[in-house]
Amino acid sequence: MLTLSRVGANYGSVPAVTAISLAVGEGEAVGLLGANGAGKSTTLRAISGLVRLTAGTITFLGTDIAALPPYKIAALGIAHVPEGRQVFPELTVKENLEIGAYIPSAKAERSRSLDLVFTIFPVLAERRRQLAGTMSGGEQQMLAVGRGLMLKPRLLMLDEPSLGLAPVVTDVTFEKIREIHAMGTAILLVEQNVGRALTLVQRAYVLESGKVILHGSSEELANKREVRAAYLGIGTEGGSRLVG
Ligand SMILES: Nc1ncnc2c1ncn2[C@@H]1O[C@H](COP(=O)(O)OP(=O)(O)OP(=O)(O)O)[C@@H](O)[C@H]1O
Ligand SMILES: [Mg+2]
Repeated sequence: MLTLSRVGANYGSVPAVTAISLAVGEGEAVGLLGANGAGKSTTLRAISGLVRLTAGTITFLGTDIAALPPYKIAALGIAHVPEGRQVFPELTVKENLEIGAYIPSAKAERSRSLDLVFTIFPVLAERRRQLAGTMSGGEQQMLAVGRGLMLKPRLLMLDEPSLGLAPVVTDVTFEKIREIHAMGTAILLVEQNVGRALTLVQRAYVLESGKVILHGSSEELANKREVRAAYLGIGTEGGSRLVG
């Protein structure tokens, strides 16, 4: 469904990612893991057209999307829930959700999508008239995911949905992501909470310094000594870096 081949992207003249190759199959849930600054967010931004490629190719459902503007990529069925949520604080919950359906095909389905989002996230239905900026962190995260769903995406990309959330709220958020995946939406999940992410995704890629250094099934990765040492806090050898 989505294929990245040796993707590179810069900020100014500074390379942020240099060689990202990965794939997400139809309806699959895939993780993108790695330490701070590894290039996870940049990879998602490259997919959604927010940063331009300096190398490589990206195809989605057979279309080369590397040179398309973000709204056209969204219209093909990719929703991006950004790092830090980025809801509009001065708008209500319902207004934030409606903005999510900014593509003509999604706009036509807006009220049906709203019903679906309210079914998945009852708290958003209860608080539809509340200003988004006054919601708790967990509620804002659900709103950000709900806004992504308003696009009726085939692929939902989530950038660190658990960031700053209490463990119990993280549990709820992951349960919702699992539910959305079970409805048939493919998921590309960026997480620093590696142990948790590996319980949700089927496969994952580990990034370091802008490159994919490891990939495999969740089970394979969870059993790899270097992943356990660097990300799961199990064992002390290997320090904080991944070594082969
Ligand atoms: N707007 C920007 N301008 C300049 N450099 C940037 C910008 N955003 C990211 N970078 C740099 O690009 C590299 C990759 O950053 P990126 O945000 O993709 O990492 P990340 O894996 O998402 O990290 P984190 O886990 O901290 O969110 C880092 O070296 C970072 O400093
Ligand atoms: Mg990031």
